[in-house]
Amino acid sequence: MKQDMILILDLGSAQNAQLAREIRALGVYSEIHPHDITLEELHALPNVKGIILNGGPNRVVDGVGIDVSKDIYNCEVPVLLADHKGDAPWPEDPEARKQALSNFIFGVCGAQANWNMDNFIADQIELIRRQVGDKKVLLALSGGVDSSVVAALLIRAIGKQLTCVHVNHGLLRKGEPEQVVQVFRHEMDANLIYVDAVDRFLDKLAGVSDPERKRKIIGEEFIRVFDEEARKLEGISFLGQGTIYPDIIESGTKTVKAVKSHHNVGGLPEDLDFELVEPLKMLFKDEVRACGKALGLPDNMVYRQPFPGPGLGVRCLGAITRDRLEAVRESDAILREEFAKNGLEGKVWQYFTIIPDVKSVGVRDGKRADEWPVVIRAVNTVDAMTATVENVPFELLQHITDRITHEVKGVNRVLYDLTPKPTGTIEWE
Ligand code: XMP
Repeated sequence: MKQDMILILDLGSAQNAQLAREIRALGVYSEIHPHDITLEELHALPNVKGIILNGGPNRVVDGVGIDVSKDIYNCEVPVLLADHKGDAPWPEDPEARKQALSNFIFGVCGAQANWNMDNFIADQIELIRRQVGDKKVLLALSGGVDSSVVAALLIRAIGKQLTCVHVNHGLLRKGEPEQVVQVFRHEMDANLIYVDAVDRFLDKLAGVSDPERKRKIIGEEFIRVFDEEARKLEGISFLGQGTIYPDIIESGTKTVKAVKSHHNVGGLPEDLDFELVEPLKMLFKDEVRACGKALGLPDNMVYRQPFPGPGLGVRCLGAITRDRLEAVRESDAILREEFAKNGLEGKVWQYFTIIPDVKSVGVRDGKRADEWPVVIRAVNTVDAMTATVENVPFELLQHITDRITHEVKGVNRVLYDLTPKPTGTIEWE
């Protein structure tokens, strides 16, 4: 193993993730583990140079005091108490904390600052090979950042022992399914099963206008399709998953209650009894992107904006029809192309188009024509809980309007959504 590790034991602090980031910022890899880790589990972890006990106020969770086992205090690895009370409380000031951490990590533990993506990848490849042996792994590859990076890492580690399944549900952005096939099948030479499930999804969704019902159908149908493909394959023992660290935090740990349950498409059948391979589960999003870049994935895959699991399904408002779905896909492609050309691609957090289920009268070829409007949304946010609207230059909006109304069939108007969140949400349904 190439990287030294500082272990954070979670004693109910809300700041575990922040502490891990502070340690990684010093160039040392850090992982967070439950407070009741056993000595055996500790010894199974590679290169642990130091342990930090990160306690919440009084180390109480749900009214019950918690502590680590005595063995941990008596083991050969140096232990630091990062308590928020007591005689020498953990400093609040970032600089003082950085100094205290450096003293412990480099001075007391003698750890090396050797956390970087190349070493992370080398270590993960070794760990994946150790876990998987000569067995086979299955992965649902949506083409989003997380699943793409896991795929690239698994391909590097175990090549054809991995089978990727890409389900095209018809709700992806223009060019995405093609790019998944191009990158993973042709460039990385992976085993990739491409499932054209467009008709299945659109048939199931026909006439359904309730947004939550639409989400549910998309999620359930995804699981059904994936399940069918998985059952066709022989000898699969493992399931690869693009779990990343924020997913784990949001789903709750032993000491932190769930913020929200994970509801993405990609939730997988529970009775498929596979052991999980989750090599990104300790990475923050920016680190996942850096990992993907280091593995040679294209920038537009690694730095892409967030895209909801139900995809264009929640941007084609009300009951999805094929013509409106194509119109939202084409207008989205024009918007993305123009944002990229005009330097807004990496600047705006999320931008897309929406097509309402309503027509208005317009003029086409000298005649009155009832057609749809398209709404442009472009927002910035830190955590998606609140959002502000991007100040897109008016001339650019006019140019995009001109292109959409002339190039996208059935669209005669373009509107710009000026509403921050709140009162609007980012998506329209
Ligand atoms: P809202 O519309 O709630 O969106 O302001 C906040 C962020 O969440 C994304 N979003 C979803 N992501 N499944 C997802 O994976 C969903 O059902 C879903 N709904 C909204 C949205 O794109 C935005 O980034």
